Amino acid sequence: MPGIVLIGAQWGDEGKGKATDLIGTKVDYVARFNGGNNAGHTVVVGDESYALHLLPSGIISPNATPVIGNGVVVDPEVLLEEIDGLESRGIDCSRLLVSESAHVIAPYHRMIDKVTERFAGKKKIGTTGRGIGPAYADKINRVGIRISDLFHEDVLRDKVSNALHQKNQMLVKLYNRRAFDVEATVQEMLAVGERLKPYVANTSLILNNALDDGKTVLFEGGQATMLDIDHGTYPFVTSSNPTAGGACTGTGVGPTKINRVIGVSKAYVTRVGEGPFPTELFDESGEWLRAQGHEYGVTTGRPRRCGWFDAVVNRYATQVNGLTDIVLTKLDVLTGLKEIPICVAYDVNGVRYDDMPTDQTAFAAAKPIYEMMPGWTEDISQVHAFEDLPQTCQDYVKKLEELSGCRISAIGTGPQRDHIIEVHSLLD
Ligand code: GDP
Ligand code: IMO
Ligand code: MG
Repeated sequence: MPGIVLIGAQWGDEGKGKATDLIGTKVDYVARFNGGNNAGHTVVVGDESYALHLLPSGIISPNATPVIGNGVVVDPEVLLEEIDGLESRGIDCSRLLVSESAHVIAPYHRMIDKVTERFAGKKKIGTTGRGIGPAYADKINRVGIRISDLFHEDVLRDKVSNALHQKNQMLVKLYNRRAFDVEATVQEMLAVGERLKPYVANTSLILNNALDDGKTVLFEGGQATMLDIDHGTYPFVTSSNPTAGGACTGTGVGPTKINRVIGVSKAYVTRVGEGPFPTELFDESGEWLRAQGHEYGVTTGRPRRCGWFDAVVNRYATQVNGLTDIVLTKLDVLTGLKEIPICVAYDVNGVRYDDMPTDQTAFAAAKPIYEMMPGWTEDISQVHAFEDLPQTCQDYVKKLEELSGCRISAIGTGPQRDHIIEVHSLLD
């Protein structure tokens, strides 16, 4: 089972960190392929909890080589801080490999992210403010800085100067900010580049050679399907492709080498930032889910918007990612509810939609059509076999599986490594 892609099936924070860690201990490489430090992936091992932003969750597994692929946007300062933080906790980061073709989040990208969001007022996206959008915009505009540019002073100066030529005008004249000094920016970037140098490699070649040798590579997505720049709730999305296809473009590995695509879904739904969310709850049920599920952002600390499971979203995720398996997380959070609503379809101005309306005007008007399922009260955190779950809990999972059009292969029953029910192996 050499190439496995793992992605978020909803709006992020589904528990991709935990799901990656579940498999990460048994694979040779864990490669991040998209996004940057807008991600916050939690891995809990015993009493230790790790919040990973740029580093692949495989960094926690001593036998896996963590890789940051070319599709990731790298803020070098954040990466170095994250490495230092983990090393001080006894996690060896020396195995890390960073693609020389990955784009760099420069100090001016962070600034532009913040000022444009402020300028947008009510029309803001609610970004994480980490400079993700502006860095990807420069990549697409062909004025970006790649990791390999950090090792060629003259080239870097030329590129930074070119990038700032227009941006400084915008910062000063439109946003009333100070201009960035080209030389100071270059020196700052050269200094972090020097520290990153030992990790930098031709990661596409390394991953392809590994796959050809029969090694297993897990491609770990940041963000999620509904935040995808092409397939998500545009414009309330991130600026990369967190869907499965992004694993190929974001690492330089062809689709013929991918054998399995795992979607991670919560047993309910959360979203941070702005944008439509049909099953969002504005009453005490939403607050209950937030409290039970500790739904606060790992990256920004923002309270997450909470809602019931949306099967239209999951069916769509199965379709656009070609899912072979679902890891269903946080089932334990629903314990104690008398009844659990599941959104099976949408009502858009009187018309029933069983499939995702890709016209965003229709999606923004979508009202959930619910089916009710009976809940359960038993603590399920120590259950390790599907058959040992309360019958109503089994029925809830089976219903989600049927509505999602993809088998559920693992079920999360708590944040710890062993809070898991493995229904089908994710590796064979
Ligand atoms: P990611 O961005 O997809 O990796 O998810 P986050 O780490 O942002 O958020 C998921 C949160 O849920 C983290 O705090 C995890 O420790 C926690 N978590 C993951 N799986 C489970 C589960 O099955 N049950 C419970 N109660 N918590 C879980
Ligand atoms: P993980 O990997 C949840 C959201 C932001 C905002 C939108 C655009 O932990 O699931 P950006 O800073 O990317 O330009 O913000 O995307 N967002 C996430 N929401 N989980 C994430 O990552 C996210 N990364 C970005 O809140 O709505
Ligand atoms: Mg997260």
